[in-house]
Amino acid sequence: MQDRFTDKVVLITGGGSGLGRSAALAVAVEGAKLALVDVSEAGLAETAAAVREIAPQAEVREILADVSKEEDVTRYVSETVSAFGRVDAFFNNAGIEGKQNLTEDFGSEEFDKVVAINLRGVFLGLKHVLPLMREQGSGSVVNTASVGGIRGVGNQSGYAAAKHGVVGLTRNSGIEYGRFGVSVKAIAPGAIMTPMVEGSLKQIDPENWEEVGRQFVSVNPMNRFGRPEEVGHLAAFLLSDQAGFINATVIPIDGGQSEKY
Ligand SMILES: NC(=O)c1ccc[n+]([C@@H]2O[C@H](COP(=O)([O-])OP(=O)(O)OC[C@H]3O[C@@H](n4cnc5c(N)ncnc54)[C@H](O)[C@@H]3O)[C@@H](O)[C@H]2O)c1
Repeated sequence: MQDRFTDKVVLITGGGSGLGRSAALAVAVEGAKLALVDVSEAGLAETAAAVREIAPQAEVREILADVSKEEDVTRYVSETVSAFGRVDAFFNNAGIEGKQNLTEDFGSEEFDKVVAINLRGVFLGLKHVLPLMREQGSGSVVNTASVGGIRGVGNQSGYAAAKHGVVGLTRNSGIEYGRFGVSVKAIAPGAIMTPMVEGSLKQIDPENWEEVGRQFVSVNPMNRFGRPEEVGHLAAFLLSDQAGFINATVIPIDGGQSEKY
């Protein structure tokens, strides 16, 4: 067992489910103090319980907040600092998939909603966490982009715009803050079996969504969904000091999908 996070404060948005929960578990077993942010109170409680099961000593703060609202973002940052005094690592991860539709049928309100959470939310997180890290002279940020942020996938106007934007924000802020000892990187997951993906498969065919899933991943070189814990371990590495020289770039975790187009 490594102990890369002993006494480190890790702030995770979207910590109530899926990839955020997996990252929380991965850093908690290595000693992290956790601030978990989500709009789902039940999700936060489930993650906190799962963390306490594998890391009974872990200090966990559950923060109910919407990443798309600036007043909520300033509050999740100030609550984290009041509880733990600093932010060493930030998994800027909360997101939604949104509806799937051809561009001409893609609702403008749906577009705004997906962009507000997936892009504005990431920007606001950077805006309010990076100054702390600059003052500390250290810190690591991992933004969650997507294969849909580095390649065209289709039927995802809002998601594609937002996730390409997340890659842009990552490059921009990594270049700005590297000189202060702060690294900013993004991960680009392919299809990972989380509640978000299950929901979008059910949108396509509520009865036969598992079969839809099998067909969906048959185009992946590894012919399977990724597991949330595989992303959690990558996030933990990238959030740790070991990855301090990886900056302003995006790391795919997709079984090779993005190389196959
Ligand atoms: N699962 C995949 O295949 C996949 C692939 C590529 C990228 N991603 C990205 O990974 C991230 C996590 O997704 P996931 O698969 O774990 O999904 P998930 O639905 O399991 O978890 C997302 C969490 O974010 C929370 N959330 C949603 N809107 C929020 C808001 N406005 N403020 C705060 N929290 C909010 C949800 O309540 C949920 O707990 C997202 O950014 C998603 O776009 C996922």
